[in-house]
Amino acid sequence: MRQRKIKNLQEKLAAREAWQVRDPAEHKGKWAGLFGRRAPLYIEIGCGKGQFISEMSRRHPDADYVAFEGQESVVLHALEKAEAADSRNLLVVPQYVHQLAEIFAEGEVSGIYLNFSDPWPKDRHAKRRLTSGGYLSDYAKILAEDGFLEFKTDNDGLFEYSVEQMEAEPGFVTEYVTRDLHRDVPEEEIVTTEYEDKFSAQGKNINYIRLRKR
Ligand SMILES: C[S@@+](CC[C@H](N)C(=O)[O-])C[C@H]1O[C@@H](n2cnc3c(N)ncnc32)[C@H](O)[C@@H]1O
Repeated sequence: MRQRKIKNLQEKLAAREAWQVRDPAEHKGKWAGLFGRRAPLYIEIGCGKGQFISEMSRRHPDADYVAFEGQESVVLHALEKAEAADSRNLLVVPQYVHQLAEIFAEGEVSGIYLNFSDPWPKDRHAKRRLTSGGYLSDYAKILAEDGFLEFKTDNDGLFEYSVEQMEAEPGFVTEYVTRDLHRDVPEEEIVTTEYEDKFSAQGKNINYIRLRKR
């Protein structure tokens, strides 16, 4: 996600410390303590400017949300949204995350959202894709029984690759798949992301898959 340079970025991030978690591995197995309650915990990896996760947290006050975003100039927008909503059920980790099993205990997470993940188009970078086998087996570990993984993308090539990887991962079963989410699912049931709005407006089909932990 390209971003203009933001003036006083570090000061602006520091001013929104209340919505940030900078030491996520310290909270492994204890995320409920950060929210001060036991509630289903959902995570998004690569939340961008936070449109999706802030709307999810607004619609579902009885659930808790943790969003990861590694690009500081982008994550600031997600933090601003959490602050504007005075969100109590959304925390943001301003870091790239790779080893999910070091951050969440087995079964600690009820659902994982991957929205318009970076495609890493070169074959030699395939392991960096958030839907590659190594990541998928970690997702299966941290998900609770009956937990889910959702993935949306405009990138048809990445989607077909991801479906193959997902079908090869024994920890999941496919629950629903479509190559045209906005044709097949009523708009009011879809919480969109910034990228989704942009690509949908251009008439691009959005691919979507939902997996359930086996
Ligand atoms: C293409 S953008 C999509 C943003 C948003 N999900 C949307 O749909 O509008 C992908 C974002 O994921 C972030 N990202 C990629 N890999 C990540 C990782 N391992 N941990 C945290 N953020 C990541 C990137 O910095 C980028 O902002």
